[in-house]
Amino acid sequence: MDASDKKRNAAKAALEFIEFGTSLGVGTGSTVNFLIQMLPGVRDKIDRIVSSSKASTALLEELGFEVSTLNETGDFDLYIDGADESNKRLELIKGGGGALTREKVLASAARRFICIVDDSKLVGMLGHFPLPIEVLPMAQEMVSRRMLKLRGQPIWREGFITDNGNHILDVHGLHIPNPLEMEARINRIPGVVTVGIFADRPADILLVSGDDGVREMRN
Ligand code: 5RP
Repeated sequence: MDASDKKRNAAKAALEFIEFGTSLGVGTGSTVNFLIQMLPGVRDKIDRIVSSSKASTALLEELGFEVSTLNETGDFDLYIDGADESNKRLELIKGGGGALTREKVLASAARRFICIVDDSKLVGMLGHFPLPIEVLPMAQEMVSRRMLKLRGQPIWREGFITDNGNHILDVHGLHIPNPLEMEARINRIPGVVTVGIFADRPADILLVSGDDGVREMRN
C-alpha cells in the first residue's frame, strides 16, 4: 500500500468521529484533502465548518460548503488535521504545508483534536523532519541566528509567503527530546509568530494508517 492509500484510509477513519450537529475544524495538507473530498458524504451531520488555510477553504467552497470564521464559531467540537511527525505522546511537528499558525489556533479552540497520519510519521523522537517556524519577515535573520545557537540549521523557505503574510524557516538537525520545553523556548524569541511544535496542545487521538489498517492511539 502506498502513502496515498494510507492517507486516504486515515481520513476515512476520521469521518467516523463526526457526529450529528458537529462543529468541525479542517486542517491543511494532502491527508486532509482526502478528508475534504469525503465530507459531502456526511454533510448532514456538520453544523458549521472552519478551516486552517486559504487552500482548504477554497476546496471546501468548491464542494459547496459555507466556511465560517473562528470568530463566528467560537470554540468548536472537533478539529481534524494531519502532521509531519508524531511521537507516542501525540506531540506533533506540523507546518510542512506552511499553515501552522492557523492550525495551532484551531487546535487550541477545539474540544477534541484528531490527527490523521500514515505510519511513516510516527517517530521515537521529534526532529527528523525539519521544524517549520513562521517568522515576521523583518526578524528572519535574527531568528535564524538564534536557531543556530540552538544547534539547528535554519533554511528559509524561499518564495513562500504564509496566509498571514509571513516567512517560514525550516530548521534542520534539531533533536527534540522535550517538545514542551522547546516549544516554549522558541516561542519566546521575538519575531517568532509560531513554532511548528504542538506539545502544549497535542492531539487527543492519533489515527495511524498502515498496511494492516488504521490504529487508534489516545492521549
Ligand atoms: C500543514 C501541515 C500538514 O498537516 C502536514 O504538513 C502534513 O501534510 P500531509 O498530510 O500533506 O502529509 O502541518 O501546515
